[in-house]
Amino acid sequence: MKTIIEPFRIKSVEPIRRTTREERKKLLRDVHYNLFGLHSNDVLIDLLTDSGTGAMSAEQWAAMMRGDESYAGSPSFERFTAAVQNLMPFEHIIPVHQGRAAEAILFSIMGGEGRNVPNNTHFDTTRGNIEASGALAHDLVIEEGANPTSSHPFKGNMDLARLESYLAEHGDSVPCVMITITNNAGGGQPVSLENIKAVARISRDFGKPFIIDGCRFAENAWFIKQREPGQSDRSVSDIVRDCFSCADGMTMSAKKDGFANIGGWLALNDKDLAAQARARLIQTEGFPTYGGLAGRDLDAIAQGLAEIVDEDYLRYRIRVNEYIVDRLDAGGVPVVKPAGGHAVFVDARQWLSHIPALAYPGQALACRLYEIAGIRSCEIGSVMFGRHPDGREIPAAMELVRLAIPRRTYTQSHIDYLIEAFGLLAEERETLQGFRISWEPKLMRHFSCRFEPLA
Ligand code: F0G
Repeated sequence: MKTIIEPFRIKSVEPIRRTTREERKKLLRDVHYNLFGLHSNDVLIDLLTDSGTGAMSAEQWAAMMRGDESYAGSPSFERFTAAVQNLMPFEHIIPVHQGRAAEAILFSIMGGEGRNVPNNTHFDTTRGNIEASGALAHDLVIEEGANPTSSHPFKGNMDLARLESYLAEHGDSVPCVMITITNNAGGGQPVSLENIKAVARISRDFGKPFIIDGCRFAENAWFIKQREPGQSDRSVSDIVRDCFSCADGMTMSAKKDGFANIGGWLALNDKDLAAQARARLIQTEGFPTYGGLAGRDLDAIAQGLAEIVDEDYLRYRIRVNEYIVDRLDAGGVPVVKPAGGHAVFVDARQWLSHIPALAYPGQALACRLYEIAGIRSCEIGSVMFGRHPDGREIPAAMELVRLAIPRRTYTQSHIDYLIEAFGLLAEERETLQGFRISWEPKLMRHFSCRFEPLA
């Protein structure tokens, strides 16, 4: 059979509520055109994020009932640690309530004034935590990674030559080297195993700890299996182990490839660093055997990690995105190619070329998509990345709109509805107008800033 089906059936459902276009126009005005302000029951299909929005399995719900809520020494923590170490062989596993808490702890130790941290592309919370510590965050992804039309199989790869000259130039001010798999801010694009190993080698040569942001490790490993020479016969779990065995630590949001609604961890091999991290954990999250989590959350993650490396699931997961990319592409909508792991990224700069970058074409597109069809997406462009720590506003490398696909949550007909909505959007494209930002906070403005439509 050629048809790739959802490899699950549905036991429990949540109704979704229809609204009219007129209602949605008013709702957009009410939230100052910031889609983060919408109530989720005013959203028909929510593609804002794939983070924490997935459906848990029957086995995960069962595991939650086994959760042990002891303050210290819970067996849930042991099951969690064993599940993590089965895939990521690090010495010290430190649970936290979500990915950014791991970043905050890491950069409370490694960050600070005058420090410099390279990554393929820092995700916004990683950048936020680095900058909040006084350090600077730099993106060193390969050139193809910033080109929406390049068909490079591993557009998330680090530019190795740039990394070497960066490390030579910045010397002692670099506390660690990071790489994000998959590269979310760059379109959910994967990093090859060869590139991960090369970054590890360069980091070692310069005496720097190598830290992987592993949020979407299983999707990344699936791409390695599909696309990297010599990898097709290996199991996904095996590839995952290989990716992490060359690193000194990782940050993780279990809300992505942990199949959980909450949770994460910081993993480290270095004993002294881990001790500092645990001291900080106790201060900000909780005792080291639960971090910021309930015992039942640790069990949900342990079971989720066993399920996420299932290759039937990963085949279906990635096929959904390829299907959307193929259909949008056929309809003339410019999309980042090849399809990413967790999301489809529409190139708003190209599609809405009449709207300048600093009038936020991605925001214009996301708002109109909601108005037309009740679908919530997310701008990943100059709204998210345009404001620099020195106060200047500089257009982002790309103006993208992300359609993030929650795990095991929507079906084929929801996806076909999305594709139909883009057909309607195409007819209105030339009438779309940009926005100005009328209010913004100091950091991570995209979550709460207010927009006004340009006349
Ligand atoms: N790193 C990456 C690559 C991420 O995509 C995220 C979250 C984080 C770190 C932080 O994890 O949310 O658990 O604190 N990304 C979500 C998204 C929010 O929508 O892409 P968190």
